[in-house]
Order: sequence, then structure tokens, then C-alpha cells
Amino acid sequence: MKFDFSTYMNSFLDRDIYNDLLKRKEEVFNTLTNYEMTGWLKNSISHEEVLEIKNIAQEINEKADLFLVLGIGGSYLGSKALVSMFSKYFEKNSKTEVIYGGINMSSSYLDELMSYIEDKDIYVNVISKSGTTMEISVAFDLIYKKLLEKYDEEEVKKRIIVTTDKEQGKLRKLVEMKGYRSFVIPQNIGGRFSICTPAGLLPAAVFGINIDMFLEGYNNSKLKYFDKAYDYACIRNTLYQKGYQVENFCVYEERLTYLNEWLKQLFGESEGKDNKGLLPTSCVYTRDLHSLGQFMQSGSPIVFETVIRIEEGKIINYQNSDINKMNMIISDSVAAAHYKEHTPSNIITLEKLDSKTIGEVMYFFMLSVSFSGILLGVNPFNQEGVEEYKKEVKKNLNYDN
Ligand code: PA5
Repeated sequence: MKFDFSTYMNSFLDRDIYNDLLKRKEEVFNTLTNYEMTGWLKNSISHEEVLEIKNIAQEINEKADLFLVLGIGGSYLGSKALVSMFSKYFEKNSKTEVIYGGINMSSSYLDELMSYIEDKDIYVNVISKSGTTMEISVAFDLIYKKLLEKYDEEEVKKRIIVTTDKEQGKLRKLVEMKGYRSFVIPQNIGGRFSICTPAGLLPAAVFGINIDMFLEGYNNSKLKYFDKAYDYACIRNTLYQKGYQVENFCVYEERLTYLNEWLKQLFGESEGKDNKGLLPTSCVYTRDLHSLGQFMQSGSPIVFETVIRIEEGKIINYQNSDINKMNMIISDSVAAAHYKEHTPSNIITLEKLDSKTIGEVMYFFMLSVSFSGILLGVNPFNQEGVEEYKKEVKKNLNYDN
């Protein structure tokens, strides 16, 4: 990863605020390590668990043409980001297709999902740390009935894999009662920080992503990018204190669309509390330059951008250049144009898109948002707002799970 936090940023950064924040590094790190929910800071998965994930992934690849993952929020977006970014645009992907359910209450989605699985050989991975999330429970109940129509009870038992808390929640009880195979999301890791647990790694492995390389990148990132992660957190908070209210994550590669979604959850849920926080939004450029680009150039002066681009692409010669080089030049030109008005940019360049680099990227942002939340004066690891809406919905639906 390469970082340019100056070319399109410098003149917008209040040096006094920024330098004061920079000085707080040690205090911020100490605060971070005192939080309970930081199991993800160091390698959060054992060698044995990785082996088990690989074995089950192999079994699924041999036996199933469909792997249905039921999860939402942090139990969904990490692996969805990985699966999407390593998916082919047009061709069929891995032998075992990985699809998602439990991500909405859309009757047409559920209806089509149930029809789609009808004639497929399927394994199901239910992922819920609490075991009580409504969308997941509803989807699981419906899918379970479908499975019983397709397979006998013994076979259904083999085809359901549960990823949940070690001891608590209804899913853990179900595992104990029915004897399903299961994985654990450690108690000290929250959903949006769970990419390096079986919640993220099993779907990734089934899809064929090299999880060893991903883990190597993830584990390297702390030492390699600690200072940069802190620097980025200071820049965000300096801009926030100067009145910026929105951080727009921009990618120049369509297959990173769900990385944007993952980032929005990570930043929005970690910082949007106590009446504070930058609102994370996202764009896929160059597509959105022809729509939201207008706002970024000349709308309210409340937005800064964090650009993620990939240096190494396919070589497609075009006139005297090649398409990927053109994409890089475009990203610089756009940042320069936005900078001329009032929209500064951080530029993050990935040398290439592979599992090791993405392990680094994900850890980098998880560390940054933790520093950033502490600088902002919030607890980056709770999500009482999400819990609040869940209670209200269950009450109004009279839904007891
Ligand atoms: O990051 C979070 O904590 C949330 O997005 C949760 O992951 C989400 O609400 C799903 O919760 P659970 O895994 O308990 O079903």
C-alpha cells in the first residue's frame, strides 16, 4: 500500500489541530488496548481453526454447487467484500457459488432465493454473533424448511454450519441441541471487526480466496502501517474539527463496490454516536463522476474523499497509453480538480489486488477507525444505535426470538 495524504490535502489541513492530535499517539494507543473488544488487534484465529475452515471449505467445494451464507451487517459485509472483489465480472466464478441471504426483509428476495436453491446441492452457513438478529432467523427458518424438503434429517445436519458466540445465544443452543458443526466468533470481537474470524474466512475459503495470504497481510499490517493508520485518523479528525462532515470513499474499480460498503459500516457504526462523527459515503469512479461528481466538485463544502485505487491492472493498449494507466491519471486529475474547489483527498494506492494486500487494507482501516474514534471521544466498539432500532422493530412486530 502507498499513501499520499498530502498532495491533495495539505492546504486544507489546519496544522495546529493536526499536530496536537499527532502528539496524542501513545495515549490513544493505550486507550485502545484498554478496550475489551479488541480481540482483532492481534491474530484472532488459531492455526487449528484455519485448518478446520480449509477442510470444511474443501468438503463444500466437493459436494455443493451452492454455499448460502445467512448473515447481516458485520456478519456479512466483510466476506461479501472479499467475494465480490475476487469475482469475475462476466464469467462464472468458483465451482461452488457463494450467495447471501438474511440481508433484508424483502419478500421477493426471499421468494427468489428459495426458488433458486430448489434444484441446487446446497450447504448453509448461518452467521450471527448474538444469534437473535431477526433477518437471519427469518431466513434460516424458511431455508431450514426447504432443506428438509430436499434432504433427510441426517443430511440436513451435515449441511448446516453455524458461526456464533462460544457460549451465548439461541444459535449456540441450537448447535448443542441438533449437533450442527460450528465455528466461534470470539466474545471480544464485534461484527464489523470479525473479518479475520470464521465469520469472514469460511465464506472466503469456500469461494477460493487464499486465506493464508489474507492472514499474512492482515498480520503484517499492524507493524507495517501503524503510523500511517494513526496519521489518517488525525487527518480525518482535523478535517472534522474544521467543519467537514462527510468522508466519501471512492474506488476506481467496480469490483471494490462492496469494500466501500464494508468501509461505510466500519466507519459509520464505529464513529456515528453521541451526536458526533463523519458520515461515510461512497462512490465508484469513474461511473459516479457523471452523477455525484458534481456535488464533490461544487456542492456544500463538507466533503473530503479517501480514494482507493489499484496500480497494477490488465494491459490494454489504447492510443499511446494503456487503460489502467489512464485510470490512474484520471484519479489524480479528479483529485486535483476537486482540490481546486474545496474537496481534499487522501490517496491510497494498492500495488495490486490480491488476498495479501486486502488483508493489509482491511486491518489498516480497522486500526484507523479505532484510533479515529478514540480521538473523536467515542467508544468505537459499541453500536447502541443499532441495538435501539432492533428493539423497536421487534416490539412493533411482536417478534420474539
Ligand atoms: O457490527 C455489528 O456489530 C453489527 O453490524 C452486527 O454484525 C449485525 O447487527 C448482526 O449482528 P449478529 O451477528 O449478532 O447477528
